[in-house]
Amino acid sequence: MVNPSDRDEQTALPLKPYTLTFLPQDVTIEVDPSVLPFGDHGQPGSILDIAMGNDIDIEHACGGVTACSTCHIFMREGADSCAEASELEEDMLDQAPGLELCSRLACQAIPDGTTSVVVEIPGWNRNFAREAPHS
Ligand code: FES
Repeated sequence: MVNPSDRDEQTALPLKPYTLTFLPQDVTIEVDPSVLPFGDHGQPGSILDIAMGNDIDIEHACGGVTACSTCHIFMREGADSCAEASELEEDMLDQAPGLELCSRLACQAIPDGTTSVVVEIPGWNRNFAREAPHS
């Protein structure tokens, strides 16, 4: 079993709880570092990992290995709490539609827990998993 403090050092998981809000659903997750990662969707503790672990679907065609741009999101608040995008991530983002200065790949952006984070899922990338079923 992995000691949580060792895991934090090895994977840059956040060291303290923070809130992560997804727009336009306006769903806020209280992220508890002790339960990260949720699965194998992107980097451990990434925005994609947290979204998938909380039934918020973000497209991720390559499985979260920086080989597509389908997990493109906009960081509306708290972008500075994530390490800068790698050159590979930036190359992939260049292929994403609707690129903005605050664009990131959800599978690579890992908030460090120092501030609240708000992200917007682009309209073409939404699968409203939490939407009430149509009657
Ligand atoms: S899922 Fe392909 S780059 Fe994030």
